[in-house]
Amino acid sequence: MGNIVVLGAQWGDEGKGKVVDLFSEKFSVVARYQGGHNAGHTVFIGSQKFVLKLIPSGILRPGVQAVIGNGVVVDPAALLEEMETLERAGVNVREQLAISNRAHVIFPFHRIVEKMSEGRQDRVPIGTTSRGIGPCYEDKIGRRGIRIADMYEPEAFCAMYAALAEDKQLLAQTFDIHEAIDYEKIRDEYLRFAERIRPMVCDTAQLLHDAMQAGRRVLFEGAQGSMLDVDNGTYPFVTSSSATAGGACTGAGIPPTAIEGVIGVSKAYTTRVGSGPFPTELLGEVGERIRRAGNEFGAVTGRPRRCGWFDVPLLRYTTMINGFSSLVITKLDVLDQFDEILVCTEYRNTKAMPATFRGLEAVEPVYEKLPGWKSETRGLTRHADLPPRARDYLRFLSERTGVEVGCISTGPERDETILIEGSRLAQLV
Ligand code: GDP
Ligand code: IMO
Ligand code: MG
Repeated sequence: MGNIVVLGAQWGDEGKGKVVDLFSEKFSVVARYQGGHNAGHTVFIGSQKFVLKLIPSGILRPGVQAVIGNGVVVDPAALLEEMETLERAGVNVREQLAISNRAHVIFPFHRIVEKMSEGRQDRVPIGTTSRGIGPCYEDKIGRRGIRIADMYEPEAFCAMYAALAEDKQLLAQTFDIHEAIDYEKIRDEYLRFAERIRPMVCDTAQLLHDAMQAGRRVLFEGAQGSMLDVDNGTYPFVTSSSATAGGACTGAGIPPTAIEGVIGVSKAYTTRVGSGPFPTELLGEVGERIRRAGNEFGAVTGRPRRCGWFDVPLLRYTTMINGFSSLVITKLDVLDQFDEILVCTEYRNTKAMPATFRGLEAVEPVYEKLPGWKSETRGLTRHADLPPRARDYLRFLSERTGVEVGCISTGPERDETILIEGSRLAQLV
């Protein structure tokens, strides 16, 4: 077996792209199972920087089969643009990529619907990425969505498209939105998009089963993070898909029994983009210092990320939901120059993760102070070379979360990594 899920343990941008790229050397297939081009996974290979949005990070390894699963929402224009960027950089996208025929399609009107709901005066904006992700999932769950396979049956597609477009036009009228959209032009454009991706479109669940049957190992790559999961996250300040480990099953069409390990990726501190509760957020100078040291600006929208200390109750919660076998702690080097580092070890007023965002806004974090190590860890590759206080910090995180730290990232590059020998993670990858 040996298949694993790698996913975000916080609110996204934990460094999943780097970690997946690193581990995919040992896997034959890397599959995305949810989200869309709201994701931005940054990977550095030497002097080259890649930001993967819709395409799994594993594609950067020659010969690795990359899969966009049925749970992903696909904007064909964004997909083609990303394919072209990768091809220009020498990646053999057409040979390596498979796209699920069951994935739902994002249309330009989805972005307009998003603008509408984000702009409503009586609603708190979520601070979305404006990619039409939420409205596309709404149509999917509402059973009126259009899937990639539908585009290859032009007559049926045109009828479905006409009905969906009519809905959106009525909605726009109701809300007095006058954004000019040439619905017919878009329909014809999508039929042309469909032809361009046709050679890569297939039943990816079958492809994954055949690969696993043949003994090839699959890595399932999560997008966003557990606290952005539509069911288990900080609702309604979440994305619209299942970003937790369970999403890998429905979003790739594989059984839970096919998964041997679940790897949670977490920063050595916490960040969040967009609105919503964030108990350990640092609004002053310290937060600004982390943002600068960690270059915490969104890979997709360029927005500054909100920064705060590591949150143990949050990690304990996402460990419970996902069943992490091991943690990868990234961006340890960002904390190199701090005199002291705080960790939230509990919420004073509650043991359970509050169900409402109001409840989470009201928690009182209790902090423990740890001494900083005040020396460079950037680029270290051996655990023994870490300053003792950095090792103490990592041990503290592991003890309090109850999960082993199997890997530490000390910089954005592939080789700026420490894999702990003898760990469960080392066995899994
Ligand atoms: P993802 O969405 O989870 O893949 O994460 P992003 O790519 O959005 O954000 C993580 C950022 O941190 C990227 O710019 C990475 O290049 C960078 N990064 C990843 N690991 C490390 C690390 O250990 N140290 C530092 N300094 N940067 C890192
Ligand atoms: P990766 O995969 C961080 C956030 C948005 C917003 C909320 C809903 O790079 O970790 P959406 O456009 O999905 O409807 O926005 O979710 N968000 C992310 N935050 N990393 C991401 O992806 C995110 N994808 C969405 O900022 O708060
Ligand atoms: Mg990101």
